[in-house]
Amino acid sequence: MTGRMKNKVAVITGGGGGIGGEVARTFAREGASVLIADISQAQADKVVASIKEHGGSAAAFVLDVNDPKQCEAAIKAAESHFGHVTTLMNGAVAVTPDQNVENLSLEDWERTLRTNLTGYFLMCKYAIPSMRASGHGGSVVNIASSHGHYALHGRIGYCTTKAAIHHMTRVIALDYGHENIRCNSISPGPIDTDRVLRRFGTREKSNALRGPMQVLGRTGTVAEVANAALFLASDEASFVTGADLRVDGGQTIWKSKQPERA
Ligand SMILES: NC(=O)c1ccc[n+]([C@@H]2O[C@H](COP(=O)([O-])OP(=O)(O)OC[C@H]3O[C@@H](n4cnc5c(N)ncnc54)[C@H](O)[C@@H]3O)[C@@H](O)[C@H]2O)c1
Repeated sequence: MTGRMKNKVAVITGGGGGIGGEVARTFAREGASVLIADISQAQADKVVASIKEHGGSAAAFVLDVNDPKQCEAAIKAAESHFGHVTTLMNGAVAVTPDQNVENLSLEDWERTLRTNLTGYFLMCKYAIPSMRASGHGGSVVNIASSHGHYALHGRIGYCTTKAAIHHMTRVIALDYGHENIRCNSISPGPIDTDRVLRRFGTREKSNALRGPMQVLGRTGTVAEVANAALFLASDEASFVTGADLRVDGGQTIWKSKQPERA
């Protein structure tokens, strides 16, 4: 532990997932106390156990980011466990069908927006007062996606929310900069997590198909995203706000072949 997150209290939504879990472990390793907020109790508990095993400070909180009361309760829980929140990482994401605008049901469209975008909005809404009360400002890290920068066949809901996260991030950065509350996003490219199982069947298949499409010739790891989140969340990024950090192996700088529509 080198203490880059010493005295920080972090809330991580989707903290039981591939990227969220690794961000949580990284923050904890660097001295933060972390609340793992996830809809899955089992996944959140697993991440907490892996942190505690290495002497870190963590607690699990089960929430659905669709529910404002549960989002507010997550911040209160972090405060009661560890003190005022200094750091929020938003990463929870809905699993929604791949469809174009004609075929995606209104219900699925609204569910995607609600989880991927309104969920981020709600967590910011309740975390920022806690950051203010901490007296040290704060840092929000929103996990967006390379698919917020370019369009992908049949993913109208997902791509729309990820592009909106980029701009929501800038507006929050603008509104709260005077209070030293920073807000940045990360746009991962293809990252090797279990999220790819639904689409590609195995992580190996996903890596074999998507790796060669990247400038760096491979998919990314959760640690590579977590390192970016660590930088943005820590005081090392004290003059960085409203930025989008692309952790995408160069995916968005060239016109690579995209996967066919699912
Ligand atoms: N894996 C990639 O290639 C990739 C690429 C670009 C962006 N991202 C983004 O990174 C983030 C994390 O992705 P991942 O690959 O780690 O996915 P993941 O599926 O491993 O993790 C997502 C987590 O969110 C939780 N979750 C889902 N709905 C929720 C809800 N309503 N309330 C609370 N928690 C909920 C899930 O239980 C899961 O633990 C997402 O925002 C995703 O869009 C991932």
